[in-house]
Amino acid sequence: MKGARQRLIISGYGGFVAGSIVWQALRSDQWDLYALTLTAPAEEQERFHVLPFDLCDVNRTRQVIADIRPDAVIHTAALADIDYCQTHQEEAERVNVGVTRELAQLCGDIGAKLILCSTDSVFDGVQGLYTEVDAPHPVNFYAETKVRAEEAVREHVEGGVIARLSLVMGLPVLGAGNSFLAKMIASLAQGEQVKFPANEIRTPVDVITVGRALLEIAAGPFAGILHLAGSTRLDRYEMACQIAERLGHSRDRVLATDSNAMAGRAPRPNDASLDNAKARRILRTPMRTLMDGFDLVMQTKEEQERAA
Ligand SMILES: NC(=O)c1ccc[n+]([C@@H]2O[C@H](COP(=O)([O-])OP(=O)(O)OC[C@H]3O[C@@H](n4cnc5c(N)ncnc54)[C@H](OP(=O)(O)O)[C@@H]3O)[C@@H](O)[C@H]2O)c1
Repeated sequence: MKGARQRLIISGYGGFVAGSIVWQALRSDQWDLYALTLTAPAEEQERFHVLPFDLCDVNRTRQVIADIRPDAVIHTAALADIDYCQTHQEEAERVNVGVTRELAQLCGDIGAKLILCSTDSVFDGVQGLYTEVDAPHPVNFYAETKVRAEEAVREHVEGGVIARLSLVMGLPVLGAGNSFLAKMIASLAQGEQVKFPANEIRTPVDVITVGRALLEIAAGPFAGILHLAGSTRLDRYEMACQIAERLGHSRDRVLATDSNAMAGRAPRPNDASLDNAKARRILRTPMRTLMDGFDLVMQTKEEQERAA
């Protein structure tokens, strides 16, 4: 029905990426929003409903999907800490794979579009600039769970989407959110040095662009795999140096590390940069350079502060 609002579920409401999606979706008249969360309190407004429960509770998940009958689900909820997943493999399997499989079956049954937030980490980092046709080859358990989650979406959801996110850069738009940029800004402001790995080459994408792109995908006909990545390819140390300089600090405040030389940490892919040509071709949402993305993040923060 033309003009009718669509019912959109966003999982992981209290998380970093979901905060951006929800904030932007609330500013449009297009959606009836249902935000699923493990930890945030329940909330009930017109067109916006926050439902707290554990997605590992299969019966509750089934009931929620049956009650809402969403047109689309953007699934951001996950255990996204690479080192935690390496040492808590049963839990990571249950949350990252089990929950996605259940959601995929439920969405498949009712013809809802499921958009899974996957990761650049599905690649081994040997080749770099991966396209959507390159084969995943994970080097840590977190990435293994994401590959199995991708398989569940492919298997059960006709018209499903696997959105592989590069390293997401930004400030939490809603809620707390685990943001390296927020920590970095705070440390630099206190006169401290910050450490970033020089061995990890990435194509960082800003959190506002990611949210916008995921909403565009939810509203549109695209199905399949899409890489949501920025247009600047660089290592994380150089990324931090450029951001520090943009904030008015010297690049000497940033120290280079090697994440694969640190004891007790899960292995990281060295060059997990993603080719964003397909996203640039398909989406209206522009895939930005690092500095354009950074500027958008800071503008959004100012806009939020003015509105508060
Ligand atoms: N951030 C990045 O750089 C990046 C890069 C590539 C891919 N990704 C992927 O993008 C997605 C979002 O990342 P993010 O950085 O926003 O992660 P995040 O901040 O850690 O958020 C994930 C959220 O998942 C929810 N969650 C975890 N276990 C749950 C459970 N049992 N039941 C219900 N909800 C549960 C929590 O939501 P509540 O807080 O609401 O309780 C948590 O905040 C993840 O799938 C991640 O793998 C992220």
